[in-house]
Amino acid sequence: MKIIVGITGGIAAYKAPELVRLLVKAGHEVRCAATGHAMQFVTRVTLETVSQHPLYSDLFASGGTEHISLKDWGDLLLVAPATANIIGKVASGIADDALSTLLLAFSGKPVIMAPAMNCEMWAHPAVQRNIATLKSWGIRMVGPAEGELACGVSGVGRMAEPETIAAEVENISTSNFQLSTQKWLVTAGPTFERIDSVRFIGNYSSGKMGFALAEALAEQGADVELVTGPTHLDVSNTRHINIHRVESAREMYAAATELFPQCRGAILSAAVADYRPAECANHKLKKNGSEGMHLDLVQNPDILATLGSMKQEGQTLVGFALETDNEEANAQRKLEKKNLDYIVLNSLRDKGAGFGVDTNKVTILSRDGHRTESPLLSKHEIAQLIIQTTT
Ligand code: C5P
Repeated sequence: MKIIVGITGGIAAYKAPELVRLLVKAGHEVRCAATGHAMQFVTRVTLETVSQHPLYSDLFASGGTEHISLKDWGDLLLVAPATANIIGKVASGIADDALSTLLLAFSGKPVIMAPAMNCEMWAHPAVQRNIATLKSWGIRMVGPAEGELACGVSGVGRMAEPETIAAEVENISTSNFQLSTQKWLVTAGPTFERIDSVRFIGNYSSGKMGFALAEALAEQGADVELVTGPTHLDVSNTRHINIHRVESAREMYAAATELFPQCRGAILSAAVADYRPAECANHKLKKNGSEGMHLDLVQNPDILATLGSMKQEGQTLVGFALETDNEEANAQRKLEKKNLDYIVLNSLRDKGAGFGVDTNKVTILSRDGHRTESPLLSKHEIAQLIIQTTT
């Protein structure tokens, strides 16, 4: 990969040459860009020697357009250390030197930052707000770590170790940001089917799996249309994830069938109610005096089967299955019947998997007979595995 390492003016800048050396050793081509403050801590000669390329530190040195040629050159921009100053500048859209200008120009490709500052600066609401803003644009943060700080105190603010930062770069380079021109549809959460003006039929789905899928797709550079039933969850990557909040299966059906034709694929993880009350009273139903009550239910549309029938050449469709017996045989049958490419079988037999929790364990079956079984992992890791297997 072609990596630009941006260095800003914190004491951790003395570790930047080591980081550059690790990246070069791993086979990457590296160019450095530094702020004036960074040059107080590390010299031009050191950075040019370890990167084997001229340093970019003066916005106007070669005609004032180097930030554009450099952003075209780089596959990834890594800022280490990233001070409160550069974080605040990017969050506010300020471009007043070589590195901040490059950061604003560098869009559509991965950016990683390794923040480093005093622990009280890190905890300041302004810094935390700026970090949240950068994350919402898809910028990844590595660290900061907790430990001894240069100012003599201990706390959160140390730059992550060069090895940790280099490992995060490897993570991205192996995944290759391969979905950056694609749009994916994800459904998540439960559906609520109204009985009257204050009651509904619902289920225990939290939406966590679908939200993790949307975030993991966005991490790979995809644009995501996330159609979710009622949940309290929110997405952090608001730049790449477009969220559509719906309530009932029919609303989810309308949104999903409208969005699917523009998408490269869809992963349907929502727990959609199979049935809904035949009628919804527009007032609160009263006790009718008798001991029992009868509720007529009618079938909801099957979103997954409908997308299966709409699917065009080149589109991928992934469904979920939650079975209690004959799990794999039933899932395989569902895959064929609904014209899916993959089906993700949730294992309810394992503790820690399924509704509400942060972990899951799945078996992914493909149309062409492949089978991938996961251990118990976080839903984020499960999402990464599903995406790796199905995209
Ligand atoms: O057939 P079953 O409901 O078990 O299939 C589960 C899969 O189908 C899940 O991917 C779920 O999101 C999807 N589904 C759907 N529309 C329905 C019911 C289920 O998209 N009405």
